[in-house]
Amino acid sequence: MNIDSQTILVTGANGGIGRALVKTFLAAGAKKIYACARNTDSLSPLLQDDRVCSVELDVCNFASVANAAALCGDVTILVNNAGTGGGGLLGSQENARREMEVNYFGTHAMCTAFAPILGKNGGGCIVNIISVIGLVNMPSIGTYCASKAALHSLTQGLRGVLAAQKTKVVGVYPGPVDTRMADGVAMPKASPESVAEEILTGLQAELDEIYPDEFAKNIQKELASSPKDVERQLANY
Ligand SMILES: NC(=O)c1ccc[n+]([C@@H]2O[C@H](COP(=O)([O-])OP(=O)(O)OC[C@H]3O[C@@H](n4cnc5c(N)ncnc54)[C@H](OP(=O)(O)O)[C@@H]3O)[C@@H](O)[C@H]2O)c1
Repeated sequence: MNIDSQTILVTGANGGIGRALVKTFLAAGAKKIYACARNTDSLSPLLQDDRVCSVELDVCNFASVANAAALCGDVTILVNNAGTGGGGLLGSQENARREMEVNYFGTHAMCTAFAPILGKNGGGCIVNIISVIGLVNMPSIGTYCASKAALHSLTQGLRGVLAAQKTKVVGVYPGPVDTRMADGVAMPKASPESVAEEILTGLQAELDEIYPDEFAKNIQKELASSPKDVERQLANY
């Protein structure tokens, strides 16, 4: 896939990976980028490049999603990057519901709103930022993993159903990345910039699934050979 002819929408563009993705797509020659955030003031560092348009977007608010779809009818790549996490497995349900609202239902709403736009524009691509722990549960953040597992399943389903309109659907499965979301995580972390570069390379190579750092690549490999060992290993974090 060639990035230089693309109009790309990135949700959560003020966050660590979102901001790095916008910069990486700009450097790769993207035609236009809709940088979306709940608070558009937080996007000002990205607006120096006149190919970037800021859009206010809360993926959990139906009217906000509909407004973005009305404003951004020329999108050819939708990057569902907005996400949230926090809290353990057996705590209050508040965190678990919020994770499901943002990570699963929010992404579902964006895909539903933008699939017809992508179809009308020739097919295009949906990129869902999932997590490698959407493929195997890490109990210390187990409800987050469950919401990302739901998103993984949605991504597979969308790939099947949107093939008819030539929309490519890509799942991205990072390990720990050094962003605000992973502030409390005491594990080696990849930089958001390196993850964004790997995502770009994966898109250019037309991959369906992108594992953008060493941790993610190792887990993917181990899951193929000894899934129960990986499950036991992640229970220790
Ligand atoms: N960091 C990691 O270790 C890691 C690993 C694997 C996958 N991921 C995934 O990567 C994606 C980006 O996360 P990050 O690491 O860059 O964390 P981050 O810096 O905390 O960014 C999260 C972004 O999501 C936005 N967001 C949250 N709720 C939203 C909503 N309802 N509507 C619109 N935007 C919303 C945040 O906006 P506000 O500023 O308004 O809160 C922020 O821009 C997430 O999907 C995350 O699950 C992260």
